[in-house]
Amino acid sequence: MSKEIVLTGITTTGTPHLGNYVGAIRPAIAASKNENVWPFYFLADYHALIKCQEPERIKQSTLEIAATWLALGLDTENAVFYRQSDVPEITELTWIISCVTAKGLMNRAHAYKAAVAENIEKGEKDPDKGITMGLFCYPVLMAADILLFKAKKIPVGRDQIQHIEMARDIAARFNHIYGEHFVLPEAVVQEETAVLLGLDGRKMSKSYNNTIPIFAPEKRLRKLIMKIKTNSLAPGEPKDPQTCTLFGIFQAFASPEEVETLRKRYQEGIAWGEMKQFLFEYLNTHFQEARQRYEDLIQHPKEIEHKLKQGASKAREVAAPFMREIREAVGIAPLG
Ligand code: TRP
Repeated sequence: MSKEIVLTGITTTGTPHLGNYVGAIRPAIAASKNENVWPFYFLADYHALIKCQEPERIKQSTLEIAATWLALGLDTENAVFYRQSDVPEITELTWIISCVTAKGLMNRAHAYKAAVAENIEKGEKDPDKGITMGLFCYPVLMAADILLFKAKKIPVGRDQIQHIEMARDIAARFNHIYGEHFVLPEAVVQEETAVLLGLDGRKMSKSYNNTIPIFAPEKRLRKLIMKIKTNSLAPGEPKDPQTCTLFGIFQAFASPEEVETLRKRYQEGIAWGEMKQFLFEYLNTHFQEARQRYEDLIQHPKEIEHKLKQGASKAREVAAPFMREIREAVGIAPLG
C-alpha cells in the first residue's frame, strides 16, 4: 500500500505560539512519526508576501518557524520539510492552473470578499482599493502547493476550508480539459484539538496580539502568564475551571490525572497568583529541553538552511517529473 500524502503549509509572518502548537504543530509532528503517512510540511513564504511587506519580519519568522518544528522533534526522515520558495515548480504550476481558474471563483473567496466589504463600509469609491493581485490569487497559489504533490489530506483550520474546496474545483476543471492528472484534495479539520485562549481571554491568535510564544525565554514566559486575565474571585473562593484560560492551557499539556488534581484545587479555591506560578513552572519544565534545542538552532541558522535545502530537493524529486507531465499535457513540450 502506498503511503497517504498529507500536506500543510505555514505562513511565515509570526512567531509560533502555544495555540499554534496545540492546534497544528503537535498533531503534525505526531503524524510525521506515523509510517502510513507521507507528510509534506512547508514554510509558505510566498504566501507571507501577501500579508507582509517587511522583509526582516519574513526572514525572522522563517527562521523561527523552522527552528520550532525541528526543536519539537519533527521527523525529517519521514516528513518532507521545505520552503515554498525553494521549489520553483510551485510558482510554475500556479500560472498553468491560473489559466483554468474562473475569475468568478476567486471573486467568491472569503479573504477577498472581506477586503472588499471593508472598503465599501469605509465609503471608498473603489471597492478594490489596496487589494493586490497577490491577495486575489492567493487560493491559486495554495492550490498549486497542494496539487503539485497529489496530496489527499490537508490538515487546516476552519478558515481554510474554502481554499481546499477551490483547489478541488481547479483540479477538477484541469482534469476535465486535459485528462486525469490531479488528485482532488480534502480538508481535514481537527475538531478535537483544544482551542487555547490568549492573554485577554479571546482565542489565542497573532491577529489579537494576545499570544504566548512557545519558546519565550523563562522570564518572559513568567511575565506573560502573570498577565493572563482572570476574574476577581478571592483566594479560598471556589473557581470554575471550565471558563478559565489558565486551566484550559494547563489541560492542553497535562495528563488526565494532573487535570483532576487541579480541578480539586479549583474547588478548594486556589488563588490566582498561585495558579499562575504553578502554570508557569509546569510549562517551563514541559518545554525546557525543546527550548534548549530551539536556542541552539537559532544560533546556527546554517544548519536549518541545510535541512530545508535537503527537504526541497526531496520535494523536487516528486515535483519536477510531475511538472514535465503537466507541461506536456497542456502542449508545452520539446519539439521532436
Ligand atoms: N493559507 C494557509 C494558512 O494561512 C497556509 C497555506 C499555504 C497552506 N499553502 C497551503 C495550508 C497549502 C495548507 C495547504 O493557514
